[in-house]
Amino acid sequence: MEDKLCHPCEQPKIDKLPGCPLQCRSPKCKAYQRAPIDTSKKPIVWVLGGPGSGKGTQCEKIIAKYGFTHLSTGDLLRAEVKSGSERAKCLTAIMERGELVPNEIVLDLLKEAMLARAEEAKGFLIDGYPREKSQGIAFEQAIAPVTVIIYFEASSETLTKRLLGRAASSGRADDNEDTIKLRLKTFIDNNELVLAQYPEKLRRINAERSVDEIFADVQAILDPIVA
Ligand code: AP5
Repeated sequence: MEDKLCHPCEQPKIDKLPGCPLQCRSPKCKAYQRAPIDTSKKPIVWVLGGPGSGKGTQCEKIIAKYGFTHLSTGDLLRAEVKSGSERAKCLTAIMERGELVPNEIVLDLLKEAMLARAEEAKGFLIDGYPREKSQGIAFEQAIAPVTVIIYFEASSETLTKRLLGRAASSGRADDNEDTIKLRLKTFIDNNELVLAQYPEKLRRINAERSVDEIFADVQAILDPIVA
């Protein structure tokens, strides 16, 4: 498997990454070579936490202060859903069940978005990824090593309350009581395994405080990285 390249990789150049339909995942395959992102100059920050933990809220503040490029896998998937493709119908069903979308789809969307912004980005905020252990491994293989992981910690009760509070105005199909329960279950089933992979890069933040108190902790993590 390792040495057998997919058909497109036999061509001298492939036009669009990632474009390999056979997914050989060989390190020689151009579709699976790492994105050219120098993380010493452009840090990569994974922003993790349960549904409603405040990832999006804190990302807005991080963008305002640090000018990082924000990529939310939830937003990327919702944009794909809006495209109305055959794949979009399947994605809608998965997201309405509160389950995880297959990783090849998420990683393809993420890698494509990062490559498109690699030149001008000062750093990347990857919001809502990885959500399972294999996603983290695949990201670092296909793109680049993560610089730091910010994890927003809050109880299921707090998360549920916030999402139900947001439901009236969000217009999101997954902000309803039944789907929130399923989203929480998916999160709880996977989260500890994800975090356990990165003991040295992981920074936990108590997310049951005010937005500004939380952001003070976020800055204490990011200031030394951008200095
Ligand atoms: P996604 O869109 O990422 O949703 P989520 O993880 O469930 O998180 P949310 O966006 O709902 O919440 P948030 O943490 O950003 O909180 P927010 O700041 O909005 O993913 C949706 C779906 O896409 C998934 O279920 C899955 O199907 C799929 N998907 C996404 N990524 C995937 C992946 N990597 N692999 C596979 N599938 C994937 O805040 C929430 C509310 O709380 C707001 O009203 C806000 O005002 C309020 N709030 C925020 N902070 C505070 C605070 N400190 N105090 C009080 N209220 C607060």
